[in-house]
Amino acid sequence: MTVHFIGAGPGAADLITVRGRDLIARCPVCLYAGSLVAPEILSWCPADARIVDTAPLDLDGIVAEIVSAHEAGRDVARLHSGDLSIWSALAEQTRRLDRIGIPYTVTPGVPSFAAAAALLRRELTVPGVTQSVVLTRTSGRASAMPERETLAAFAATGATLALHLSIHVIETVVAELVPFYGADCAAAVVFRATWPDERVLTGTLATIAEEVRFASIERTALILVGPALAADEFRESALYSTDYDRRFRPTGQPVPKAGA
Ligand SMILES: C[S@@+](CC[C@H](N)C(=O)[O-])C[C@H]1O[C@@H](n2cnc3c(N)ncnc32)[C@H](O)[C@@H]1O
Repeated sequence: MTVHFIGAGPGAADLITVRGRDLIARCPVCLYAGSLVAPEILSWCPADARIVDTAPLDLDGIVAEIVSAHEAGRDVARLHSGDLSIWSALAEQTRRLDRIGIPYTVTPGVPSFAAAAALLRRELTVPGVTQSVVLTRTSGRASAMPERETLAAFAATGATLALHLSIHVIETVVAELVPFYGADCAAAVVFRATWPDERVLTGTLATIAEEVRFASIERTALILVGPALAADEFRESALYSTDYDRRFRPTGQPVPKAGA
């Protein structure tokens, strides 16, 4: 018996991986995390599967479901929204499973920040503009932020910021970011990316909070901030230039020492 942790993607059922879908189809038990998993995804469970929404359960209750499946020798598909590497509660569940000796696998999913960038039709790293993306959040009831992980510290780098779990404090976020990025820096909010009711708001740090208020968006949204979101005047990357020598397209010139 194995527990398969599966990233279910941002919303749209066809954005789960083929591996994730196939695992769901063969597991007689499916535990899924509340409202952020599309009903169509659950329809891939076997007809007689035990399907449990874990939103009302605490960690002990979730582990009890897994232990009971383990005792019955039934594999479990454990679904979380987006990808499992960020804000999925994977760590606390696998630690429990390690302690009681229940095997598990982890299948990645499309994270919501990538779905949001796709809706904006933007690359978040643009040559000469920014080469880093910070995936972060503000303090919430469930998790306080570590002392050194402040918005100001991240903003000081000028990287593209993808702020999760923070739409309810967008005014505070904007106030903290303006001194670093400037009021005219590009900003976007993406609500329920890839769901039928998705919304995309684009503007600047000066306008975005008002747009959010006007649209009454209070949950399940990402705030993206940074010059890459509006970059137009930038140099092309060396990767595709005709005189750039690389393994699959040699020019006969010496290979540059810096990493590709
Ligand atoms: C508990 S975190 C889960 C993150 C998830 N593991 C991921 O890979 O994106 C929930 C937060 O992720 C963001 N989020 C998740 N799904 C989203 C979507 N479809 N559209 C926009 N934001 C989303 C929101 O900021 C939401 O408050």
